[in-house]
Amino acid sequence: MASFRLGMIGCGTVGSGVLEILHRRRDALKRLLGRGIEVARIAVRDPDRPRHQVYGFVDPDVFTGNVARVIEDDSIELLVEVAGGVDAPRDWMVEALRRGKDVVTANKATLAFHGEEIFQVARECGRSVYYEASVAAAIPIIEMLQNGLVANQVTRVLAILNGTCNYILTRMELDGVDYGVALRQAQEKGFAEADPTLDVSGEDAAHKLALLARIFTHSYVPVDRIFTEGIQRISREDMAFAEDLRYRIKLLAIAKLSEEGAWDLRVHPAMIARDSILAQVQEEYNAAYVKGDAAGPMLIYGNGAGSFPTASSVVADIVRAVKGDRPVNGEEPQESVQLVPIENVSLRNYIRTIVLDVPGVLGRITSHFGMRGISIASIRQPEAKVGQPVPVVLVTHKAPDKVVTDSLCELERVGLLLEPPTRIRIEE
Ligand SMILES: NC(=O)c1ccc[n+]([C@@H]2O[C@H](COP(=O)([O-])OP(=O)(O)OC[C@H]3O[C@@H](n4cnc5c(N)ncnc54)[C@H](OP(=O)(O)O)[C@@H]3O)[C@@H](O)[C@H]2O)c1
Repeated sequence: MASFRLGMIGCGTVGSGVLEILHRRRDALKRLLGRGIEVARIAVRDPDRPRHQVYGFVDPDVFTGNVARVIEDDSIELLVEVAGGVDAPRDWMVEALRRGKDVVTANKATLAFHGEEIFQVARECGRSVYYEASVAAAIPIIEMLQNGLVANQVTRVLAILNGTCNYILTRMELDGVDYGVALRQAQEKGFAEADPTLDVSGEDAAHKLALLARIFTHSYVPVDRIFTEGIQRISREDMAFAEDLRYRIKLLAIAKLSEEGAWDLRVHPAMIARDSILAQVQEEYNAAYVKGDAAGPMLIYGNGAGSFPTASSVVADIVRAVKGDRPVNGEEPQESVQLVPIENVSLRNYIRTIVLDVPGVLGRITSHFGMRGISIASIRQPEAKVGQPVPVVLVTHKAPDKVVTDSLCELERVGLLLEPPTRIRIEE
């Protein structure tokens, strides 16, 4: 049987890993599929740059600077998009689908913003879009939600989906360093980009949550409707207080189905019990706790980034495409999703601020919250000299998010605080 011809756009961290795995596993894959896989063309930005690391796996002649030579080649059956970007990949994918190709992509940003259009074109053309690598890299969470858990109503997902943030938070906790130092360490180790904004702002995790939520809510979930907060304001002090309170701070992507059938979807730093399973997920690792109504709870854990871990999922998708496997669930949104606005979500909160240690200050702060219906579960204030600045940490009982947000704004206006409060939501 003739080889299956695929074309790639991108040959960087992920693309070069894909080429190496396809080469290393070529005999096993050929046995499995009954035909070989040929990488017929690879478009890159700079085709003249030598790429010695992959010349052992593909002929140097396959490289081109012209994306159209991949998309418009009718002998190519599958487009593998591992270039990145947001808008250009949308055009490439749509055009490839219209020309009868399936698409494999690792690009969560394009799918989060243009996914509905891309999936719609795929449906019209009878083609498939495979995107396992776009969420949690090596971890087969898309496969699990689309196929393995298809018998379930998923009711809860709590996930660590951004390795950069998890690495930074782990370094801050274990090394006692500030956010800026931990970020630099992440950049030196290759776990954070030179411009880390997308990761540390929580946006990357929100893109991934939108893609997962599309599967288990059977609906289109616009990424801008997911409440998103980053880790930039977490400090060394918060880490120390979290330890004292027996919590750990993680950037969580959260999805919870309410009894009324609405979805609470959010991404933010959260304090979780130190002995919980997700709290054990440290360094650059990713994990997802998923609960299905039939299957019950489960945990999936592994590498959420990197050349081979990401390429592992890209190659799995290539194999699915060659075999013609279509997702059981997840291509067509059937319902319009009902979301619980963050304002209505009731959570416990950790609140840290700095005040002047003068008589009555703690009483004024607690009565400020009390008058707004927020009851305080605990207060911590290290000993300080009278009249000197001192941190105050409050833990609230459950209160509606908006009530806490408004109370904190009002408290800032009263002039009791020496710096804006840090608030971290507590996830039970
Ligand atoms: N790296 C990870 O751990 C990881 C994990 C999960 C998902 N992803 C996703 O995988 C995708 C690729 O990431 P990466 O880390 O491999 O990126 P990368 O190392 O920067 O590589 C990007 C590749 O795409 C090529 N390229 C960029 N723009 C292009 C254009 N307009 N036309 C043609 N080629 C173009 C570049 O060409 P040159 O070589 O000539 O510059 C390069 O080969 C992204 O969507 C990313 O979000 C990455």
